[in-house]
Amino acid sequence: MTTTWQPVPGLAFGGDYNPEQWPRETWDDDVRLMREAGVSIVTLGVFSWGLLEVADDAWDLGWLDEVIDLLHANGIAVDLATPTASPPIWLHHDHPEILPVNRSGLRYHQGGRLQWCPSSPVFRDYATRVATVLGRRYATHPAVRLWHVSNELGGGNRHCYCEVSSEHFRRWLEQRYGTVAALNDAWGTAFWGHRYASFDQVICPLDSETTQNPGLLLDFDRFSSDALLEHFLAEKTALREAGVTAPITTNLMVGVRPSVADYASWAPHLDVIANDHYTIAADPRRERDLGYAADRSRGLASGQPWLLMEHSPGAVNWQPRNRAKAPGELVRNSLAHIARGADGALFFQWRASLAGAEQWHSAMVPHAGTRTRIWREVCELGGILQRIGEVAGSVVAGAQAAILADDVSGWAWGHGQKPLNGFPLHSLARAWSEALTDRGVTSDVVPPEAPLSGYRLVVVPGLYLASDATAEAVAEAARGGATVLVTHLSGVVDEHSRVREGGYPGAFRDLVGAFAEEYLPLQADERVSLDTGWTATDWTESLVVTDAEVVGRYESGPLAGSPALTRREVGTGTAWYCSAGLEADSLDRLVATVLTDAGIAPDVPVAPGLEAVRRISDDHAWLFLLNHSTDPVTVDATGQDLVTATGATGHITLAAGGVAVVRER
Ligand code: GAL
Repeated sequence: MTTTWQPVPGLAFGGDYNPEQWPRETWDDDVRLMREAGVSIVTLGVFSWGLLEVADDAWDLGWLDEVIDLLHANGIAVDLATPTASPPIWLHHDHPEILPVNRSGLRYHQGGRLQWCPSSPVFRDYATRVATVLGRRYATHPAVRLWHVSNELGGGNRHCYCEVSSEHFRRWLEQRYGTVAALNDAWGTAFWGHRYASFDQVICPLDSETTQNPGLLLDFDRFSSDALLEHFLAEKTALREAGVTAPITTNLMVGVRPSVADYASWAPHLDVIANDHYTIAADPRRERDLGYAADRSRGLASGQPWLLMEHSPGAVNWQPRNRAKAPGELVRNSLAHIARGADGALFFQWRASLAGAEQWHSAMVPHAGTRTRIWREVCELGGILQRIGEVAGSVVAGAQAAILADDVSGWAWGHGQKPLNGFPLHSLARAWSEALTDRGVTSDVVPPEAPLSGYRLVVVPGLYLASDATAEAVAEAARGGATVLVTHLSGVVDEHSRVREGGYPGAFRDLVGAFAEEYLPLQADERVSLDTGWTATDWTESLVVTDAEVVGRYESGPLAGSPALTRREVGTGTAWYCSAGLEADSLDRLVATVLTDAGIAPDVPVAPGLEAVRRISDDHAWLFLLNHSTDPVTVDATGQDLVTATGATGHITLAAGGVAVVRER
């Protein structure tokens, strides 16, 4: 169970460090404070291209040498970035053709970040050159333990609609389909008579005023993800050819919403899965959003430890109302990621900027300096991470449930006109994750291609697009003894975004033994009841049961009397279908029902507001307990709490907002 990417012994702790924004004397203060807080690694150089390559091929690397040496002398490791997220002004000025073009065909202007076209050969040359220069210079520096390609690729340049991108897209399509006839068939271009006579006639889906072909839109999303991945790999190759042997990664943006790229296809190319996660201040259960993102990051890492590359110490600057975190939230957030498999917690950023676009973003050293609650909590966290450092390299204990999540499926739902436009289908997966967590059941959030054997419960929540292979894998899990739960709006279209014929949920229709003839989304303020005592909003459908037991029926609304919830025995397992958009309390009761059906008991203690996760190694188990509530809570635990260095014999009491990491006996 040991892994090899860890840049520092124990758990990594630190953040983005931008010394270029500060005078030289501040650097000494920085390293002194880093040592005080227990910082072990900083991410350096993410946005400093224009200060390293000050004009075309004119280099000023002396200051970076000095910072890296200073950090090294103070025992702080470096995660060195290629600075390609932020092209220098001179580059945009000399080569405006690298700027991305938006859907309306308008080229962006200099002054932002990630403002480059992923398909631009000109940009590729400049980007790989700066990667090569840095790689050659720092490959063997003992402080540089991890490499960080660019920053949140796709966060600002997910799609480019320029002519170079169109040409790249055509080549990509040719490779995917071979013949234009195959492309016409996949996209169903007989519709509106939009047949292509050759690949040359295809362009990026620039704004065409009306809605566009879903197959075209989906392939453009896939292409855009592949173009960004191609860019990542070009920089990674440049680093390797320059002599870099340390692990190379890039920071993903894995969350509840579909990601900016198809990260399941990126994961095999990263030496460590690294994620950035920011809580949303207005979300009353933001810890569950965090938990879902962390579980999904672990799913991309195939269950192995991953790295939290960024989160915020306090408020961000990009939400409508940027409220500071509550006391203790910083520590709980970091520990929640670690509980769910992260081998470190890094922040954006070290010292709060006084100027620039992110001057209102919180930092480990706030504008008010070290006489602050954030600083005290940063130091508290640093101490805790040292005391629990032994968990590094361990894994989250065997989850009994899997939740399938797929970016491509999310993209397909997001395109064009749908039965319930604007409905956040991805919220179903989070709702299931939240309900399972509340019931003390650990779940893995995994891509549909992940192996499903070993899970007693497999949840397919709003997986709008499902391939035949996914349908078969899910059916196989049921035949093999798992309880499978499929929700509405799953398996509806195939990989070309074409509706599967014969009734919804097409790909899972035979498995669940029922199909919907028609969809009846509810009006915004409408609510219907089921004869199970549950209520539903947003979604109902008229279900025809072919080979299943009806477990619940609609009791009110347009479908009163019709089946709503079904269960079918399949092999040694079962397949459930829930056609209704259940409200949270009702979903919780459905979760209880299927857990009983699957024979799953809680694997961690349960209490209101408690988050409990267990990590294990070959020799030890550690129970992470995080009390998100405003009341103290007492739970069963026996062992040694590493946070307070006190023993727990049978139970432990956590103060309101308190945390414990119990090495279990
Ligand atoms: C991240 C980004 C950082 C910083 C941060 C602010 O998405 O990688 O550079 O901008 O957001 O929340």
